[in-house]
Amino acid sequence: MSIKFLLNGETVELTEGNPTVTLLDWLRETRHLTGTKEGCNEGDCGACSVMVTDASGAKALNACILFLPQLHGKAVRTVEGISGPDGALHPVQEAMVEHHGSQCGFCTPGFISSMAVAHREGRRDFDNVLAGNLCRCTGYAPIIRAAEAAAEQPVPDWVQDIAPEVSASALLPETSNELATWYLENPSGTLIAGSTDVGLWGTKQLRALDKIAFLHRCRDLQQIDDLGDTLRIGAGVTMAQLHAVLKDHHPSYAEMVRRYGSEQVRQAATIGGNI
Ligand code: FES
Ligand code: FES
Repeated sequence: MSIKFLLNGETVELTEGNPTVTLLDWLRETRHLTGTKEGCNEGDCGACSVMVTDASGAKALNACILFLPQLHGKAVRTVEGISGPDGALHPVQEAMVEHHGSQCGFCTPGFISSMAVAHREGRRDFDNVLAGNLCRCTGYAPIIRAAEAAAEQPVPDWVQDIAPEVSASALLPETSNELATWYLENPSGTLIAGSTDVGLWGTKQLRALDKIAFLHRCRDLQQIDDLGDTLRIGAGVTMAQLHAVLKDHHPSYAEMVRRYGSEQVRQAATIGGNI
């Protein structure tokens, strides 16, 4: 394993270790960044949400079903890095205090991550953005009010991460041809795209995965071609990317995709992943 990413603004390089360690376990057990919480450990509750930035922008993803190699060439911010280097609160944190958006607080770091992503990306569809974060005690009205209030504030400099340049890594084919070559040599290997399904093989079934290829760097699997009366959709296109393009072509199908999983799941899950 040879992977490189930014964690709360600092470069991390990992050259050894198990590629099926989840980001959540690694953060909490190796880095002692315990702000990111474990609730369900299966991608349902959003307590483990973190901000992940790449060239396409920032996304909220569930750290409990995200394997470390999936971060190669990306930037991660946990709740510890969403506040400023000098301890200044992010506008969404200030707004959560102001609007009483937290009671027991267990869900709060996950909400803060999702809200900070929406804030950075200029999104205001908070019912969608926060549908993957569950809160059992505060209730959603104060949290939505906080998100709306924060939206009026500028994005702090410290969350404007630029994902690092990286070189190829053995586990991470860059093209479908490279992937095909690997798969011919490893026909029993496991392919992992978004890991919203395979992630649970590890966290719930405690299955050990032997040979693995991570597909998120295969750009030629992520194309959507509009051929006039046909959309040609690569197997590595995420449900979120699919939703964006379907809105103009098939609004009713787009509405169905909007209800698929949650924001965090749609940002990771690929259309070919479950097939
Ligand atoms: Fe529930 Fe990750 S712990 S989504
Ligand atoms: Fe308790 Fe949300 S504040 S679960």
